[in-house]
Amino acid sequence: MKQKIKQILTEVQQVVAKNNEELELFRIQYLSKKGIITELFNDFKNVANEEKREVGQLLNELKNATQQRINDLKESFASQQVDAVKSDLTRTAEPIKLGTRHPLSLTKNRIIDIFARIGFTIAEGPEIEDDWHVFGALNFPPEHPARDMQDTFFIEQNPDVLLRTHTSSVQSHVMTHQKPPIRMLFPGRVYRNEAISYRAHCFFHQVEGLYIDKNVSFADLKQALMYFAKEMFGEHTQIRLRPSYFPFTEPSAEMDISCNICGGKGCPFCKHTGWVEILGCGMVDPNVLENCGIDSKVYTGYAFGMGVERITNLKYQVKDLRMFSENDVRFLQQFQSAE
Ligand code: PHE
Repeated sequence: MKQKIKQILTEVQQVVAKNNEELELFRIQYLSKKGIITELFNDFKNVANEEKREVGQLLNELKNATQQRINDLKESFASQQVDAVKSDLTRTAEPIKLGTRHPLSLTKNRIIDIFARIGFTIAEGPEIEDDWHVFGALNFPPEHPARDMQDTFFIEQNPDVLLRTHTSSVQSHVMTHQKPPIRMLFPGRVYRNEAISYRAHCFFHQVEGLYIDKNVSFADLKQALMYFAKEMFGEHTQIRLRPSYFPFTEPSAEMDISCNICGGKGCPFCKHTGWVEILGCGMVDPNVLENCGIDSKVYTGYAFGMGVERITNLKYQVKDLRMFSENDVRFLQQFQSAE
């Protein structure tokens, strides 16, 4: 027995382990309930009485030495790790929590991405505007209700300083300052004097599209919008254009897509029609082209404008518009993994 203990002691002192897993195996082999050393303690009762003292001492020494060996090895791993960390100067100081993109930004970027692939570039215009760029150039008659205080925010009672009610105002700026061909997107925030509820807000976001060139037709508009709908909502998505009216387009239409919540079968979101409206569009009215100095006999074009909130609602199934501007991190963090 004494011989055996001494032999194990040398064994233990020579043990090496490359990592914590190997070390744990070593501990199990020697010190666990069925380990070699524990078995020796069990055999202790068979040791002759006159030897008990000496063997007992040796056994305790062996156990302590084994534990010590384990501790030493463990410590050497820890210090190796510290060395590794010390030497990597590019490593961030602490695990840094990543922020998240706002769902409206995700949607806006996605829209921009999709149209960039068919040649659309980006421009932005001012949010504080004058009557001409928001209404006048866009063929709004003088008595149009949008010019009323009820619908539009005016700044300091001045009827010529107002918050834009749509991104179509950027059309007026761009067409006045650039020569066709123009193929651009205008993303931005717009303001309307509306009571805030789950489905309306006094500010929201739009992305406007404008394409002016020779021989642009309604078929081009429809093709671009169909491409967009399928890229945004999936290959199976269908579109439908309904005749509508805007002062700055003629003919005008509103576009619906097949409801991507129920797949067109009918649900509360699409009011059981199977369709949801996502944008307004049409051929740019010749009066608008002329107002901006573009020869309407040479050029034609199409325009469209979509609500970013509406598309985000559909894409992420957010039912209450107010969530987008309340900055509740519990809501915003849900978009952690998105793009
Ligand atoms: N400006 C319109 C709106 O805000 C949308 C639109 C844009 C319609 C371009 C036609 C062409 O509702």
